Amino acid sequence: MKLTWVLAVAAGLGLHGVNAATKVYNFTISSKTIAPDGYSRDGLVINGQYPGPTITVNTGDTIQVHVTNNLTEPTALHWHGMYQRGTPWQDGTPGVTQCPIPAGGKYTYTFSTAGQSGTYWYHSHYMSQYVDGLVGALIIKDPSATSPLPYDEEIVIPLSDWYHTQSEDLLEHYLSRASKGEEPSPDNALIGGTGSNGCTGYVPTGTSCNANHTTKSYSFTAGKRYKLRLINTSAFANFWFSIDNHTLAVVEADGTDLNPQYVHRIPINVGQRYSVIVQANQKAQKYYMRAQMDTACLDLGEVIAKESLALAPVIYKGGANTFNSSVDWTDQLVDCQDLDYTVLRPYHAQAAPAAAEQITLSWDFHGDPVTNINRAFINNVSWVANFSYPTMMNEYYKMPDLSYDQLVIRPNTSDYVEVVLVNNDLNEHPFHLHGHTFYVLGWGNDTYDDATDRPKFNTKNPLRRDTSTVPGGGWTVFRYKADNTGVWALHCHIEWHVEAGLLVQLVDQSWKIPQLNITNDALALCAASNYSHLHGTSKTAVTQAKKNAPTSLKNAHRKRSVKIGRRML
Ligand code: C2O
Repeated sequence: MKLTWVLAVAAGLGLHGVNAATKVYNFTISSKTIAPDGYSRDGLVINGQYPGPTITVNTGDTIQVHVTNNLTEPTALHWHGMYQRGTPWQDGTPGVTQCPIPAGGKYTYTFSTAGQSGTYWYHSHYMSQYVDGLVGALIIKDPSATSPLPYDEEIVIPLSDWYHTQSEDLLEHYLSRASKGEEPSPDNALIGGTGSNGCTGYVPTGTSCNANHTTKSYSFTAGKRYKLRLINTSAFANFWFSIDNHTLAVVEADGTDLNPQYVHRIPINVGQRYSVIVQANQKAQKYYMRAQMDTACLDLGEVIAKESLALAPVIYKGGANTFNSSVDWTDQLVDCQDLDYTVLRPYHAQAAPAAAEQITLSWDFHGDPVTNINRAFINNVSWVANFSYPTMMNEYYKMPDLSYDQLVIRPNTSDYVEVVLVNNDLNEHPFHLHGHTFYVLGWGNDTYDDATDRPKFNTKNPLRRDTSTVPGGGWTVFRYKADNTGVWALHCHIEWHVEAGLLVQLVDQSWKIPQLNITNDALALCAASNYSHLHGTSKTAVTQAKKNAPTSLKNAHRKRSVKIGRRML
């Protein structure tokens, strides 16, 4: 009896302990002229590449990324979907978990991948930098897991909208009265970081564009099964993905393995990931892989995206050199919604545990009462990052009052929290929670009504993911476990909306944060804000910090009282 037990433990260590490695990456961030769709513009790249290098590790490995910031502005990298359990200061979110890496500076991110596998990504979380190219895939494999469906090879395929103007300029216009709240319209769509038809988009005189630029192609060997890891790295666009004549078996959503679900077309919103398995079982020739923006969600009035479709050839090895019978599927999807949540079922079933506390967040967009600039308001407050005083450090130094204007919510429980997202805006918003996967209990297109909607919650084996779409004028309810000590952003992943203030921060076990072993390197990034000069009580420190705050922040935060709907369940 005893011997068996010892052996079992040793075997367990063999899989998850002894073999766990540290995978080291060196990322140099710089700006460079890039032309992913043929149009040359200044982009932001990692080691000279757009998209950045793919990180591939086995579950349990530690990822270590040495970042060198060769830009003339600060930066920070966020590891989208990583739990960062025990290392919440490595989440890479300026104003929330860290002070940014200064221009010319270096910083090392180190975090474990224990307990996670699947398709993830990373991106700059500093201002709108990722829209200019600072994105990459992060894949965690689990060699010991059984796959919902077998496959022979895998291919990582990022999908993205693409702009011909630098995000800084787009943002400046968007956050001005002139935009009237209309988001920047994408110029093109990219598959695998490449696109064509770039020259039919916005090409100002004096710039250069290669009209012969093509979207990359993918090669299939007849009879093989491919796992395609789809990642929507867009700023704005919800995509519909399909391959002509080929059925897709959906087997993963945001790191959660699923019972295979067969579709012809799959919607994938900003920040979301899906793995689909496709069999090369059609006549050997060429087919189109399609990434079509769901333009109905772009809310651009007459000015829709200039090129909203990316077509990448899928070429069968040794097959005919023709697209002749490659035809788009005729089935349509519901505009601006995720795949039906009752259809996607996790492969490893789990019921949603009951929640101890409920938080209701409702938002809309309207003109700021003073500036009349259109912004997002959650429970009447619009978020603006305070890069000098990130919430994580304010909690760590026991100066929580420094986060007075930062939409910070500190649940009283380490148990499950239920979040009711109420979207008073007419457009959909893909909401992402850092540091967790959550149970999607339901959504609707209408006004949320606790009495009638709660009994319909899907709690048996609900979809678990980290990014879920809240329908326009509707709601989404999810539950997460508030036991991952740290400060976690919860925000719309449409980058323009983050900058317009559509972000709140959820603090897990705020009482444990001062005991975290935050590294000196992470603390040193905040040297400029120099907490040590803030003497006395948290309140007097706030007075000092407010005096030092840049005017932009002072202007942005006139409303002080954050009223969050909260109740114990
Ligand atoms: Cu990809 Cu704050 O997220």
